[in-house]
Amino acid sequence: MEQVMRNFFLYMGKNRVATKVAKRYGMRFGASRFVAGASLDSSVNAIKKLNQKGLSVTIDHLGEFVDNAAEADEMTNHCIEAIERIAAENLDSQLSLKLTSMGLDIDVQMTIRNMRRILEAADRHDVFVTIDMEDFERCGKTIEIFTELKKEFANIGTVLQAYLYRVAEDIEKLNELSPNLRLVKGAYKESHKVAFPDKKDVDENFKKIIKLHLLNGNYTAIATHDNQIIEYTKKLVKEYNIPHTQFEFQMLYGICVEKQEELLKEGYKMRVYVPYGKDWYGYFMRRLAERPANVAFVLKGMMK
Ligand code: FDA
Repeated sequence: MEQVMRNFFLYMGKNRVATKVAKRYGMRFGASRFVAGASLDSSVNAIKKLNQKGLSVTIDHLGEFVDNAAEADEMTNHCIEAIERIAAENLDSQLSLKLTSMGLDIDVQMTIRNMRRILEAADRHDVFVTIDMEDFERCGKTIEIFTELKKEFANIGTVLQAYLYRVAEDIEKLNELSPNLRLVKGAYKESHKVAFPDKKDVDENFKKIIKLHLLNGNYTAIATHDNQIIEYTKKLVKEYNIPHTQFEFQMLYGICVEKQEELLKEGYKMRVYVPYGKDWYGYFMRRLAERPANVAFVLKGMMK
């Protein structure tokens, strides 16, 4: 049953008609638990509250399915505006973005041009930018673009997903760039031909790549709410004397909030991923797919 629901929400998250309907009817049905708001202003408020507690942030202007150059240009401008705002308000925040929002499905060269504009602004204001990883179909292209941009810009990182069979090989190939990587389990519906179907195997692979990237001496963001993985990382860094300046934990806005503060109190760096924007729908569906309990939460919100 859990798998059926997961597939349903992942399908709905990719459905263009559902996306358009959701856009029109606004942020309802409990999405505000996971999304800071529709505007940059609302995300700035959320960042300030998190920063006051000592939590670092990465903001993500939500947007997927960009299918023309003007929209990609608009998304690029949004990112630059967010970087300038982070700097102007002196916020402890990085920026995360998706290459499909920058035009990946339209034209790779245009995407790279848009990314250069963003990274130049980020460089000027000393803001770090992480390229999120999308589905398997776009993984290879994303890594190629990251590799090209990493040679020109220091303040860029990307994400690798533990559920993919190829991930350990990607980590080894990227090692010559000493990349700052965010490691995650992976949020998309993938074929068993490219990704581990069993959670147990994903978890084992996750531990394997955390160890690999940390022992390669690279900065590692362990982005998970899974206690078992968090405890594994704590033991590993202790055993190998890995300094706290070489890694951080990351979690999503509104998820395991107490744990975020607990890790901070224990002396670990903790960064919260704060999504905002009117295109909240696909992101919201992926969060529902991860946890059936969230669906009950949403249903309660609808009843109210
Ligand atoms: P897992 O799914 O096993 O969850 C462990 C426990 O965490 C659950 O039992 C539950 O208690 C809690 N939990 C997890 N998800 C929850 C939810 N939605 N609501 C409530 N509780 C929940 N993926 C991707 O493919 N590309 C990307 O670029 C990113 N980027 C990214 C950034 C950051 C900062 C995070 C934290 C995650 C991502 N992800 C991602 C998502 C990631 O791949 C994964 O889908 C989620 O983090 C859930 O997996 P966990 O590692 O938390 O473990």
